[in-house]
Amino acid sequence: MTTASGEHIYSKSNPYSSRLLVNRLLTEGSDKETRHFELSLEGSGLDYEPGDSLGVLPMNCPDVVDDLLNTLDFNGNEKVEIAGEEISLSQVLQQRLACTVLSKIQIKKFNEIANAPRLSELLLVENKEDLINYMWGRELIDLFLEFPQRGLSVDNLISLLRPMPPRLYSIASSLSAHTEEVHLTIAVVRYDTHGRKRKGVCSSYLAERVGDTIPCYFHPNKNFKLPADGDKPIIMVGPGTGIAPFRAFIEERKVTGARGKNWLFFGDRSQKTDYLYGDEWENYLKGGLLKELDLAWSRDQDEKIYVQHKMIEKGAELWRWLNEGAVFYVCGDASRMAKDVDSALRTIAQKHGAMSEDDSATWVKSLQKEKRYLKDVY
Ligand SMILES: Cc1cc2nc3c(=O)[nH]c(=O)nc-3n(C[C@H](O)[C@H](O)[C@H](O)COP(=O)(O)OP(=O)(O)OC[C@H]3O[C@@H](n4cnc5c(N)ncnc54)[C@H](O)[C@@H]3O)c2cc1C
Ligand SMILES: NC(=O)c1ccc[n+]([C@@H]2O[C@H](COP(=O)([O-])OP(=O)(O)OC[C@H]3O[C@@H](n4cnc5c(N)ncnc54)[C@H](OP(=O)(O)O)[C@@H]3O)[C@@H](O)[C@H]2O)c1
Repeated sequence: MTTASGEHIYSKSNPYSSRLLVNRLLTEGSDKETRHFELSLEGSGLDYEPGDSLGVLPMNCPDVVDDLLNTLDFNGNEKVEIAGEEISLSQVLQQRLACTVLSKIQIKKFNEIANAPRLSELLLVENKEDLINYMWGRELIDLFLEFPQRGLSVDNLISLLRPMPPRLYSIASSLSAHTEEVHLTIAVVRYDTHGRKRKGVCSSYLAERVGDTIPCYFHPNKNFKLPADGDKPIIMVGPGTGIAPFRAFIEERKVTGARGKNWLFFGDRSQKTDYLYGDEWENYLKGGLLKELDLAWSRDQDEKIYVQHKMIEKGAELWRWLNEGAVFYVCGDASRMAKDVDSALRTIAQKHGAMSEDDSATWVKSLQKEKRYLKDVY
């Protein structure tokens, strides 16, 4: 993390304490909770660029920690020594360790203590799939509930836990448009599994706060940047929270007076409730900063409409932009969306560039090599 004068001061191990200024629900009336956050960089001299991410160091929810302590018959005041420092078990669990995730290594370590036949069976190499299914939707507390361990020592518990990892978020603001601020767009993870309500550590930590101090650091991403040449057209595909860096891109292009054409593909569940920053996009379209805006609402009709369907629908125009030298960006879900968008690009090259399947794959690879096809997917 650097200041405007290029000094490195803040990092994952020495985070900056930023005040959370705004925490706003973007999806009123939706069954999904996506929030807009604004964090202060006032007086820090800190600097970032559109395309970078912010790392956030969250704390576990006190209720989640209390549940774990109660299940294990600890009162939380037990003393724990960490890096030469003596602090309470409850503090260690809240601030330092990941106590919700469940990994194969943890199950292995737990079973060295519990010796449960069911877990021994699941840990056999040939039962890999069953183990993955078992872990899905379960957290560490589920092990203790299913295989109670009376008399577990504090050291045994600590040995099962790894340090709390930070979470990265694509930055949703341009520093030139919002002096001394950094904005984020976050889908809050909440779900019910195996009879318990669960929540994502970092997204719920932020969702449940306002005015607090948030430990964070910048994570530069030199592979996801606006073209240096402001005249170059850009195509941005960002469904769901994938929209975040494109808000930063468009703000930056506005402030810098970049003349290149801008095209956005956005999609989410329903236009009425999930149109993230809808007013801003509509205004950019009216003002001409956005030349094209294509929206894919997946749950406003019986059949699913996704961003890649809109890309194919507008294939001829998209092909023209790419041949004019446009840079193509995709941000958001890596597991399904980014793969389908990649496949849509190949389909467009086959249809509008008269390419064979193999040639279209080579062409997509060449776009990547030329750094005209950039991804920020997670
Ligand atoms: C470069 C990068 C940029 C990112 N940018 C953004 C961004 O702009 N906005 C954003 O919202 N996120 C973004 N993410 C994702 C973000 O970092 C976190 O992974 C996300 O917020 C979840 O973290 P959490 O701590 O809330 O959840 P965690 O406590 O980490 O829990 C998440 C886990 O819960 C489990 N889970 C979730 N849902 C279910 C379910 N329905 N059923 C069963 N299990 C489930 C899964 O195991 C999942 O891995 C980005 C990630 C990367 C790497
Ligand atoms: N585990 C879960 O149950 C679950 C659910 C949602 C999100 N997530 C995770 O939560 C995070 C944030 O979610 P998000 O708000 O960014 O996005 P998201 O909820 O995953 O999706 C945003 C939009 O993309 C659509 N979509 C689904 N599959 C797609 C595909 N193959 N191609 C193109 N679009 C597709 C969704 O439609 P539909 O939802 O109508 O299909 C929705 O309209 C992501 O990391 C995501 O993986 C997890």
